Amino acid sequence: MHSIGSTAIRRMATRATRMSTAFTFTKNVTQQHLPLRLGLTQPLFNSARLYATDKEKVVAYTVDKFPGYVRNENFKELTENDVTYFKSIVGENGLVYGNEDDLFAFNTDWMNKFRGKSQLVLKPKTTQQVSDILKYCNEQKLAVVPQGGNTGLVGGSVPVFDEVVLNLQGMNKIRGFDSVSGILTADAGCVLEVLDNWLAEKGYMMPLDLGAKGSCHIGGNIATNAGGLRLLRYGSLHGTVLGLEVVLPDGTILDNMSTLRKDNTGYDLKQLFIGSEGTIGVITGVSILTPHRSKAVNVALLGLESFEDVQKAFKQSRIELSEILSAFEFWDINALHMFKKHATPKEVMQSEYPFYVLIETSGSNKDHDDEKLTTYLENMMEEGVAQDGVVAQDESQIKNLWSLREGFTEALGKEPAVYKYDISMPVPKIYECVEDMRQHLKDGGVFGQEDSPVTDVVAYGHVGDGNLHLNIAAKRLDKKTSSLIEPYLFEWVSKHQGSISAEHGLGVAKNEFLGYSKSPVMIQLMKSMKNILDPNGILNPYKYLPSS
Ligand code: FAD
Ligand code: MLT
Ligand code: ZN
Repeated sequence: MHSIGSTAIRRMATRATRMSTAFTFTKNVTQQHLPLRLGLTQPLFNSARLYATDKEKVVAYTVDKFPGYVRNENFKELTENDVTYFKSIVGENGLVYGNEDDLFAFNTDWMNKFRGKSQLVLKPKTTQQVSDILKYCNEQKLAVVPQGGNTGLVGGSVPVFDEVVLNLQGMNKIRGFDSVSGILTADAGCVLEVLDNWLAEKGYMMPLDLGAKGSCHIGGNIATNAGGLRLLRYGSLHGTVLGLEVVLPDGTILDNMSTLRKDNTGYDLKQLFIGSEGTIGVITGVSILTPHRSKAVNVALLGLESFEDVQKAFKQSRIELSEILSAFEFWDINALHMFKKHATPKEVMQSEYPFYVLIETSGSNKDHDDEKLTTYLENMMEEGVAQDGVVAQDESQIKNLWSLREGFTEALGKEPAVYKYDISMPVPKIYECVEDMRQHLKDGGVFGQEDSPVTDVVAYGHVGDGNLHLNIAAKRLDKKTSSLIEPYLFEWVSKHQGSISAEHGLGVAKNEFLGYSKSPVMIQLMKSMKNILDPNGILNPYKYLPSS
């Protein structure tokens, strides 16, 4: 990477396009200045880890860590006869039974925060097997947790007690692809990155991307209505999912695998299952609209002085980059420090700024995109909005910039404890929320001193979606800190017309706080719908909806 001055950027524009590269730049050539140097030669974290669960780390059971859960006595306890019956459906190799070591990864969530006590994991290979399993579980009143890649961050994908885990990893076939319309049909257990790589060969891409792509399933993405890094450009799964095949709790197969973009006949039932977190049906098949893979992709990283500047950069990017803007992400210096603390090598990004934004453009004409991006960056530098920046010059630098952004989750996962939040609110409020929380924790006596339980308050997120990831790292989870954060944060969000969950969902982490985002009438209707579809309450109990 080389640096140039902003006055030279205009002259560089044509050269940059010819070189078909991007470039690094600094505010002023004459100024003694260190450009943002990443020093990354390879992605620092491996997103393709199947499970993050670390057996070396002692993970307490959810029921011990968060007392108050009571096992629903209507649910039957698993017997040998049940296991024998399940073997007749999925075969000897289609289940994991009784062995604590083998069960550990399925019982424990990605953050090592929640742990259940299931004795049985079922791995069906077909929709009919899922149907047979659920029919039996419903009749026998055996509780079930649907599970995809187990990368969920709210404890929704693992049991609370002894629920049977229904893992979809064996359902991983691509069913079809229409290369004219870009519509992909696939089993729900296909890994997001596998689908994306498969589509790449055909010139298409998945309309969503997230740090967990190497492990999460498309079914899990839909069950959580995952947002991710490119929602800004390609929209939510409520728009791109065209059809679903779902097995209802009583085993009924709901075949709604439409491949139509337009269909105004009756209630749009598939929408109910998008974001339902495995509480009203198991998604087994997916039909999804995929965009063309962009020929020209640029990624730039800017260093900025204030969140005010982040907003200016965002506002201007929508005007100047408009249709080629595909991501606009931000993080603060605390997030960078957290990354550095856990990454190897440590000498990532030598010059530091209070804020960073990562901007991605995707288009079909490299020259056109380069020119637009150059002009935008030049303006940002000249107007003093950005202090410094770097533009990836090739595919591997693009990957490295993204791996920095995607690495915060894993870095935080290496802390002894972390309170994770994914809230949404009007963009101008985003950093006010972070600063307010820091002060609130200091005032509460849990942050700011050497021996404080809270060690850091880290912020990053999807600015373009008004989505803040507020992460409070701590030496341990303790009652005083928890009760200072919750419901304070949810009240704050509610007061500012935000949502207590922008994308990770509710699971067991936020279900009791749903009232901060939805009215009593809405919650009552949700409960009625759950009752109609799952009268025995066997699907993903203790989660999603408030208990009372
Ligand atoms: P799981 O974790 O297995 O399950 C999640 C929920 O969906 C559970 O309630 C489960 O019961 C249910 N479920 C799973 N499969 C099915 C199915 N087939 N049918 C019915 N219910 C099912 N989320 C975002 O929105 N944006 C991000 O940018 C983002 N980044 C992440 C980065 C990292 C490093 C990690 C670890 C997580 C991230 N997540 C993000 C959170 C997570 O929601 C997503 O990883 C993903 O959508 C979950 O998919 P999964 O297959 O792992 O589902
Ligand atoms: C992200 O945007 O990185 C994900 O939602 C995960 C997280 O919040 O850590
Ligand atoms: Zn996110």
